[in-house]
Formats: sequence, structure tokens, C-alpha cells
Amino acid sequence: MTPEAVEQIRSSYAAIAVSERQLSARFYEKMFAAAPALRRLFPEDLTMLQGHFEAALALVIRNLNEMDGLQEALRDLGAQHVHWGARPEDYITAREALVGAIASLSPAWNPALEDHWRAAVTAIIVPMIEGAAVHAAVEAERLSAEQKP
Ligand code: HEM
Repeated sequence: MTPEAVEQIRSSYAAIAVSERQLSARFYEKMFAAAPALRRLFPEDLTMLQGHFEAALALVIRNLNEMDGLQEALRDLGAQHVHWGARPEDYITAREALVGAIASLSPAWNPALEDHWRAAVTAIIVPMIEGAAVHAAVEAERLSAEQKP
């Protein structure tokens, strides 16, 4: 990601993040509208989760230049998500919901900014999906070892 792209993402995020939980509320709204079946995976009251989600997003935005340092934490987060029922394809739904939520709250939206945001969110979901896949593989080995006579 170029320094210009990082700068554009940071300033567009700063403009949205002034209102706490605004972005996460819009994100969940869009994700559940696109995939209503996902709603039952989440708690009734999303308030706490919205806070966690925004904290995670803010951390990534601060570290866009050093995403290597976040790979492990994002893989762990993806592995945890397996237990919550997230499937690889749900991350694409989540990415589009997040990009759509940001677009709907940004007065100065344009195709270049959309590309930058999609790339940034892809850099979050790819290690999460990788972490989930490794977790599933380890779990399969464990189950297979258990079944051996
Ligand atoms: C952009 C991608 C995503 C990010 C950054 C993200 C981030 C997070 C964070 C930070 C938490 C809180 C973890 C904790 O409390 O320890 C969380 C919880 C959760 N996420 Fe995600 N998530 C993403 C995508 C998804 C997807 C695609 C699904 C599945 C449909 C999903 C389902 C859940 C569920 C069910 C919980 C737990 C709710 C509970 O507390 O019971 N997430 N997520």
C-alpha cells in the first residue's frame, strides 16, 4: 500500500471515527441485510462487540504500514472466529459490508478511496481466513489421532 493510500485511509477513517460506534453499527446493519442468516451467530445486544470491533479496526488503521506485525494477532482472531461460526465466504460479505458502511458515512467518497479501503480490509481478512484454515487443519489432525485405535 502506497504512503498516499495509507494517508487517504487514515484521514477518511478519522472523519468517521469521531462518532463512537457509528461505523460498527452501520457495518453490522449492512452485513445482516446482505446475509440475514449470520445474525443468529451474534449476541442480541451488539454494544460491547461494536466497541471491540472498532478497537480492532483502529489498531489496524494505525498499523497499516506495519501489517507484518499484526499477522499473528489477526490469524489468532480468525482461529477464534471458527468457534463463532464464521466461514471463509462470510469474510467477503463482511468486507463488502464494511466498505459499504464506510462509503455511506464518508462525504468525500470516490473510486480510488474505495479501492484503497477494499485493499486495507482485504489485508485484515486474509490472515483471519488463514488462521481459521490452520486452526481447522490442526483440529482435523487432533480428531484423526483421537479416532486411531
Ligand atoms: C473484517 C473482519 C472481522 C473483524 C475485524 C472482526 C473482529 C471481531 C472482534 C474484534 C471480535 C471481538 C473478539 C473478542 O471479544 O475477543 C469479534 C467477535 C465476533 N465476530 Fe468478528 N470480525 C470480523 C468478521 C466476522 C465475520 C465474517 C463473522 C461471521 C459471520 C464474525 C462473527 C463474530 C462473532 C459471532 C463474534 C463473537 C460475538 C460474541 O461475543 O458472542 N466476525 N469479531
